[in-house]
Amino acid sequence: MKKILFVTSEAHPLIKTGGLADVSGSLPKALAELSQDVRLIMPNYQAIKPHGDVRFLCSLRVDNREVNILETQMPDNQVTVWLVDYPDFFNRPGNPYLDEQGEPWPDNADRFALFCRIAVEVAMNRAYLDWQPDIVHCNDWQSGLVPAFLSLETTKPASVFTIHNMAYQGLFPAASIQGLNLPGQLWNPGGLEFHNMLSFIKGGLIYANHITTVSPTYALEIQTPTFGYGLEGLLEYRKDYLSGIINGIDIDLWNPEADPLIAQQYRAASLPDKKLNKAELQRRLSLPVNNRVPLFALIGRLVEQKGIDLILDCLPEMMAMPMQFVLLGSGDKDFEQRLQNLAQVYPDKMAITLGYDETLAHLIEAGSDVFLMPSRFEPCGLNQMYSQRYGTLPIVRKTGGLADTVVDSLPETISDRTATGFVFNEANASSLLETIKRAMILYSDQKTWTKIQANAMAKDFSWQSSAEQYLTLYRSL
Ligand code: ADP
Ligand code: GLC
Repeated sequence: MKKILFVTSEAHPLIKTGGLADVSGSLPKALAELSQDVRLIMPNYQAIKPHGDVRFLCSLRVDNREVNILETQMPDNQVTVWLVDYPDFFNRPGNPYLDEQGEPWPDNADRFALFCRIAVEVAMNRAYLDWQPDIVHCNDWQSGLVPAFLSLETTKPASVFTIHNMAYQGLFPAASIQGLNLPGQLWNPGGLEFHNMLSFIKGGLIYANHITTVSPTYALEIQTPTFGYGLEGLLEYRKDYLSGIINGIDIDLWNPEADPLIAQQYRAASLPDKKLNKAELQRRLSLPVNNRVPLFALIGRLVEQKGIDLILDCLPEMMAMPMQFVLLGSGDKDFEQRLQNLAQVYPDKMAITLGYDETLAHLIEAGSDVFLMPSRFEPCGLNQMYSQRYGTLPIVRKTGGLADTVVDSLPETISDRTATGFVFNEANASSLLETIKRAMILYSDQKTWTKIQANAMAKDFSWQSSAEQYLTLYRSL
């Protein structure tokens, strides 16, 4: 049995801004099911709603700050959660990274450096918790300083750093290191310095014993300039210590047979029941209730990564086709505005919901026919897997985890029963539009469509095999 400290800045259902939270909610649970001793550590944000007891464990003094560690449990499993409680930094409105206006908190470097310091104290068993991990598993830049600080210790646990997204590196002006009390030996271009900026992610990429990312394809992509954002050389240099392990999904939470958040549960053998969800979704979003036209959907952060501009370019032509389009998301204000403007022009064909709404997300997965993910890059992506499980065929761009989890519907893949969606290559509107047309044509052949739905729904996206890959990695360190 391995003792694993899982360091993360968000975890569903306590707090979530994106896929990192889904992974932090479900991977530790899967590891616990493999009989591993996993403890999760994260900041105690104002928005966290613990479901069970929260008890005070201890108080630590680091960098002249008095920090509490609280203990609670994941609501739907037995994984222990340690909350790093420092109200000045974490008891604020807004989300973990942004204020209520959507601007990054100005003291993010201090906030997450303190979080990393505490994680290291716990990892070194200096926090009076009487528990020392064998493995410290860090995730994204917010935990990047953990491997860096650990590198300065003598007898220490092994560290794994998982990249969920290279686009977010935790870059701060060099001046911000003053308040952080950074040991001098970490501050050089072979360390945390990146073009005279402080880079949190480099702490993970340089000092972790092993780096993983969330799909095999993305592990290769980030070694190229397009996806490496200036760190491709470092990643290539460390390629013997870099691997891709595809994310799983929580198959209990995302299960059309038992989902309490949808109008009618269904499975591959009862696909006509899926239509009741479509009707409910159309009603809820004030669209005409019509089962004949395909319903296209998108859920996600409205940012450049997700190819929202490609959707905007395609929408006028899409609206000329017999289809409906629903979108749930929030992010870039310009995207939000342009989407809303279009929705006003086509109120009978298109519904935009700005904001974050978990219940609606489940109903959209269940009620739609096609799910759009034209991402410019996608380290893994979860919605394409949720979609397949719900028999909602994804249209994805061939990148990262999308390339690894969706099989394009071509004559040969349809006949050998491996087709599960639609895949296109180029990140431009015409390639996307052509693929949308391909889906429209196939939709009119309901017999074939239903077969592809069944292929998609039968795929195993559970954590089982990926959690075993992490375990094999932990054992090798
Ligand atoms: P990323 O982490 O890049 O945002 P993923 O596909 O890995 O992308 O994960 C996104 C997660 O966040 C999914 O679980 C998705 O359903 C959820 N999500 C994104 N936007 C919203 C929203 N507006 N409302 C509800 N859920 C959302
Ligand atoms: C990131 C990526 C997304 C991935 C998620 C969980 O937010 O953008 O592709 O699925 O992390 O690993």
